Amino acid sequence: MDFKILIVYFSHSAHTKKLARLIQKCTDGVLFELIPQNAYPANYNAVVAQSKKEVEKGYHPLLKAMPENIEIYHKIFVGTPNWFGTMAPPVASFLAHADLSGKILVPFCTNGGGGLAHIGTDMKRMCPHAKVLDGFAATENNGNQEDVSHWLKMIGIEDK
Ligand SMILES: Cc1cc2nc3c(=O)[nH]c(=O)nc-3n(C[C@H](O)[C@H](O)[C@H](O)COP(=O)(O)O)c2cc1C
Repeated sequence: MDFKILIVYFSHSAHTKKLARLIQKCTDGVLFELIPQNAYPANYNAVVAQSKKEVEKGYHPLLKAMPENIEIYHKIFVGTPNWFGTMAPPVASFLAHADLSGKILVPFCTNGGGGLAHIGTDMKRMCPHAKVLDGFAATENNGNQEDVSHWLKMIGIEDK
C-alpha cells in the first residue's frame, strides 16, 4: 500500500491551494487542507502581525483536523505559503504532531519572490526521521502544470 500519495497543505489566500491541485492532477494523490481552529484575519496587516509573532515563537496553532490513516502514505507532499522565509505555523503544527518517521516528504510553496527560503531545511530539522526531497516554489499564482511535471520528473516521481 505504499504507493499512495498524500498532499497536505495550508493556504491563506488560495495560491498554495491552486498549486496543491496541480500536484494532485499530476500524481493522483489525496488532497488534505490544514485548517487552523482559529482562522487568520483576512486583513493583510493583521495576518502579518499575528503570524510574525507565531513564527518567532515557534507557535503551533491547533488544527481543525489531521489527515487520517497517515500510515498508508509513503510520500507526503507538504505545501505552504512562504511566511517570513519559513512554513506557515499550521504546517509546523502538522509536522510536529504527525508520525512522519520513514516517510518521504516533498515540500512545495508559493511566495512573493522569496522562493522556498528555508522551508526545506526547517522541514528536515523538524522531521529528522523523514527524508525530505528537493522542493518546488512558484510565485503566487504562477505555478503551472509543465513546471510541476518537470520538477516531479527531477525528483523521481513520475506523472500518473
Ligand atoms: C504573513 C505573510 C508573510 C509573508 N512572508 C513572505 C516572505 O517572507 N517571503 C515571500 O516571498 N513572500 C511572503 N509572503 C507572500 C506569500 O508567500 C504569497 O503571497 C503566497 O503565494 C501566499 O500563499 P497562499 O495564497 O496560499 O496563502 C507573505 C505573505 C503573508 C500573508
